[in-house]
Amino acid sequence: MKLVFLGPPGAGKGTQAKLLASKMGIAHISTGDMLRAAVEKGSELGKQVRDIMNSGQLVPDTVIIRLISERTKEVDCKDGFILDGFPRNVAQGEALQEMLNAKNDTIDAVLYFVISQGELLKRLDNRRAAEGRVDDDSETQKKRIVVYEEQTAPLVHYYEKKAVLKKIDSQGSVDDIHQLVLAAVSTPAANVSK
Ligand code: AP5
Repeated sequence: MKLVFLGPPGAGKGTQAKLLASKMGIAHISTGDMLRAAVEKGSELGKQVRDIMNSGQLVPDTVIIRLISERTKEVDCKDGFILDGFPRNVAQGEALQEMLNAKNDTIDAVLYFVISQGELLKRLDNRRAAEGRVDDDSETQKKRIVVYEEQTAPLVHYYEKKAVLKKIDSQGSVDDIHQLVLAAVSTPAANVSK
C-alpha cells in the first residue's frame, strides 16, 4: 500500500505514520526526519538545507524530489510506503505522479489530518519544551503555518480532484486517531471522522 500523509505542522502525521507503518510492515518515509538527519550529520545536504529549515521555509523541490526518488527505490519500500511530509506543494505532487506513472503505479490514499490551529500550536509548544526542535520556536511555528497555507494546502484540492483524499479528524488522543487511520486505509475513499 502506498499512502501520503498530508496536514499542517504538528497535526500528528509523523506520530500516526510511525504507528501505521509498523503495523502494516511498510516503510515510513519522513522528509523532515531525513533532512534533520543530514543536518545532524553535517553532510553537504545538511549544510545546504539547515538555514532554510530553521527559517521555516521549504527546501528546493529539486533536492526533495531527488531524495524521494532514491529513497522509494530501497528494498524496504517493496511492499509499500507512507510519505510523511512529501509532497509539500503541487509541483512536488506532479513529480510524485510522474514517478508513479513511470512504474505504472498509483497512490492508494492521501490521509488529510484536520486539526484546529489552537490544538496544533499547543502540540508544537509541547514538542519544543520536550525536544527543543529549532523550528518549533514561536516565530518559526507561525512561518511554517503560513508556508503550509500558501504552498501545501492547495494539495487538498489537488487530491480531492483525484478522489483519493480521506479526511481524518485529528483532535483526539493518539490511539483514537490511530483507529480512524486504520478505518481509513481499510475502506474505499471516504471522509473519516469520529
Ligand atoms: P517536517 O518534519 O515534515 O515538519 P512538519 O510537516 O511541519 O511536521 P511536524 O513534524 O512538525 O508535525 P507532524 O504533523 O509530523 O506532527 P508530530 O507527529 O510530530 O518538516 C520540517 C522542515 O523540513 C520543513 O519546514 C521544511 O523546511 C523541510 N521539509 C520537509 N519536507 C519537505 C518537502 N517535502 N519539501 C520541502 N521542504 C521540506 O506531532 C507533533 C507533536 O504533537 C509531537 O510532540 C507529538 O508527540 C504530539 N502529538 C501527536 N499526536 C498527538 C495527539 N493526538 N495528541 C497530543 N499530542 C500529539
